Amino acid sequence: MRWSLHLILPFLTFNFLQLNGQENWEVPEERQGRLSPFEFSDSIQQQGSIHYSVNCASCHGTPGQGNFERLDPLPVDPATAEFQENTDGEIFYKVSEGRGLMPSFKNVLSAQEIWEVVGYLRTYNADYVQEVRPTAELSAYGGTVELLMAHLTDQNKIQVVAKGTRHGETQPIEAAEVALRVKRYFGDLQLDETKFTNPQGIVEFDAPQELPGDESGHLELTAHLVNQEMFGITQVDTTLAVGQAFVPVSLTRDRAMWNVVQKAPIWLLLAYTLSVLIAWGIIFYILFQIKKIFDIGAELESKS
Ligand code: HEC
Repeated sequence: MRWSLHLILPFLTFNFLQLNGQENWEVPEERQGRLSPFEFSDSIQQQGSIHYSVNCASCHGTPGQGNFERLDPLPVDPATAEFQENTDGEIFYKVSEGRGLMPSFKNVLSAQEIWEVVGYLRTYNADYVQEVRPTAELSAYGGTVELLMAHLTDQNKIQVVAKGTRHGETQPIEAAEVALRVKRYFGDLQLDETKFTNPQGIVEFDAPQELPGDESGHLELTAHLVNQEMFGITQVDTTLAVGQAFVPVSLTRDRAMWNVVQKAPIWLLLAYTLSVLIAWGIIFYILFQIKKIFDIGAELESKS
């Protein structure tokens, strides 16, 4: 029976390698440290548990029970140390982006809802202490907050600056969440993710080069502060030439039968004229023959 082990061993090691060769799920550095903007209170965690049972339990099972779906790679049980080792930012990123059989949820759940799920999953970690992201306090700015938007052509970035008035002085607003949108025919399209202003009150987004704009590449852009409860509806609308120049082509320009004569192909004109002539020719030929029969009849009648 020793030979059988020799036969099986390569397969065993192969499988072993396959399981472990599963590469680490790398999360971009700037995303690892991202924190929830709100505290994971009981009601938030309860909200998260609802999202979890609707969206995640089918694969990940009930946390702590190991009753997850046997997929490849295995969905991790959220109650395990392996799962809980992820930072808040890493869980948020993995749930947003997905990988392989793990679906991307960024178009299914809002950022708020994903954070609620993260909050819920942390109830399975006794050692967890939450760190909340500091947010800009509007009250400090006396209610006057404004946004400015510009195109940095050399780096091809769109820069948004948030400013407020404090102690009678205009000052940059730090840690405010900014979203950038482009007007499309049906609603707005959000570009990139929301970003947080730096100490100079600045965020930069990559210009959406591949998006078609008008004939000169103009796009209508809107930047707004996400936290509307705190900032009210603060936004700035600008038209910038950051998209691709796009000249709309009329659908009926070249190839329509109902179009003006110059645009119809010659063969079509010829074929059409010819078939009309043939049809009328046949009609006249038949009429001519009938007339002939009539004439012959008249001649015979006059003779008798
Ligand atoms: C269709 C099945 C499926 C659903 C639904 C699903 N997951 Fe997953 N999840 C997976 C699989 C499979 C993996 C392993 C992916 C990999 O490592 O490539 C995974 C991995 C993860 C990871 C990464 C774990 C780690 O340590 O790297 C997180 C976090 C996660 N899922 C959270 C969630 C959350 C939260 C939801 C619900 C909002 C969810 N998943 C819904 C299948 C699923």
